[in-house]
Amino acid sequence: MGTLDILGDRQSGQDVRTQNVMACGAVANIVKSSLGPVGLDKMLVDDIGDVTITNDGATILKMLEVEHPAAKVLVELAELQDREVGDGTTSVVIIAAELLKRANDLVRNNIHPTSIISGYRLAMREACKYVEEKLAVKVEKLGKDCLINCAKTSMSSKLISGDSDFFANLVVEAVQSVKMTNARGEVKYPIKGINILKAHGKSAKDSYLLNGYALNTGRAAQGMPIRVAPAKIACLDFNLQKTKMQMGVQVLVSDPRELEKIREREADMTKERIQRLLKAGANVVLTTKAIDDMALKYFVEAGAIAVRRVRKEDMRHVAKATGATMVSTFADMEGEESFDSSLLGYADEVVEERIADDDVILIKGTKTTSAVSLILRGANDYMLDEMERALHDSLSIVKRTLESNTVVAGGGAVEAALSGYLECLATTLGSREQLAIAEFAESLLIIPKVLAVNAAKDATDLVAKLRAYHTIAQTHADKKHLSSGYNIPATVGYSSF
Ligand SMILES: Nc1ncnc2c1ncn2[C@@H]1O[C@H](COP(=O)(O)OP(=O)(O)OP(=O)(O)O)[C@@H](O)[C@H]1O
Ligand SMILES: [Mg+2]
Repeated sequence: MGTLDILGDRQSGQDVRTQNVMACGAVANIVKSSLGPVGLDKMLVDDIGDVTITNDGATILKMLEVEHPAAKVLVELAELQDREVGDGTTSVVIIAAELLKRANDLVRNNIHPTSIISGYRLAMREACKYVEEKLAVKVEKLGKDCLINCAKTSMSSKLISGDSDFFANLVVEAVQSVKMTNARGEVKYPIKGINILKAHGKSAKDSYLLNGYALNTGRAAQGMPIRVAPAKIACLDFNLQKTKMQMGVQVLVSDPRELEKIREREADMTKERIQRLLKAGANVVLTTKAIDDMALKYFVEAGAIAVRRVRKEDMRHVAKATGATMVSTFADMEGEESFDSSLLGYADEVVEERIADDDVILIKGTKTTSAVSLILRGANDYMLDEMERALHDSLSIVKRTLESNTVVAGGGAVEAALSGYLECLATTLGSREQLAIAEFAESLLIIPKVLAVNAAKDATDLVAKLRAYHTIAQTHADKKHLSSGYNIPATVGYSSF
């Protein structure tokens, strides 16, 4: 037998590298025009004609059908930034593409890729160190105003920038209300406990913060009480009425009268299960599946609230906030069915309220972590979706600022300061990495450049001025204030860098 053949052409060398870099450049060019407070929104239409209007880099890239493998890496980069930090998705893509472009030029000039990689790594480490030591400002010094400014900066490029005063307050209040201390004594702000509900109608400014986790469904039956307090909550992720047969087990019924008996037995089983739940003390039962009217009767009789078809994600958050365990079966080790009261979650109150035209279930005073809901109002779906994305960015930034306690100046200030510092650093190194570090420094300037271009300003002129200020700040001890965020109103969370 010969060696294994793999079909297709195998390409290598400079051509492929250039192609890859070009593909990444193309992706970055798409999002470039949406960067910054004067950046433009994008309208994306998919195959079936669904429209999305957004300014969020990660969302734009997710919607594009990118097939080029190298370009896909950039899309993943944006998604990762969205998951880890929440904001700055456009910026990372632009910087990454610029770094690649410059690295490709270096390779063309016969610098070996390993030298470039180690140069970039070194530059990155030095940059992070410099940000931490010199550029970052402690939040305690700046107080609540600073948080509001951070929130405002992150939403300045979004649809809601016009009402940023209003929304920034809402966001800061929401994040502060989910404050908790974890087992290791660290103060955390789990923003997953902030549920965003979208309701049509009224204007954006009529949005408000609600205490408690809101589920976007009403009670399963009218006969159930509107309010139970204190609430013991059971979270079920299976159908109360059905039992899964073991693999390969089939039941064949030849006599129609037998069928009736089976139904009866099924009804008995459901009744037994519900009674098991109620006996354990549950007075609120949430399930991701359906419950039929027959079964609802038992809940109504017991004065308990049952909510069906809860979204699994919501259920997970409720379980976390109330200390409940999500149950996917009643079966126990002995092969019997049981439900222990330790699986229940606790809340001060569960109540049904009407928001806009919808009934929602509010879970207030949750035991483990507190939960709040942001009710967004807006004219249409596009607007509400974009508002949600913008608020997600701001919530993440406020959370990051509170957890890291540091901020840096925005508007390309940090990038320009770093660029100057790294350029100086490069000249002090007598190795091959020098060139790579200098290119890294140059790449960072893309952010202030794009910000200026998007605002229809003279980028060359402005970036030159910005760099001059930073050089003065770095070389003259009495002019240090020129590089700090104090005299620049726009600040971004440090971690979003
Ligand atoms: N008022 C302002 N003046 C100058 N620059 C600003 C101002 N507000 C924000 N910026 C800058 O705009 C950039 C952020 O822009 P934008 O929010 O569009 O992109 P992103 O945060 O990278 O990505 P996304 O928000 O889409 O996830 C940051 O570099 C920030 O410093
Ligand atoms: Mg942003």
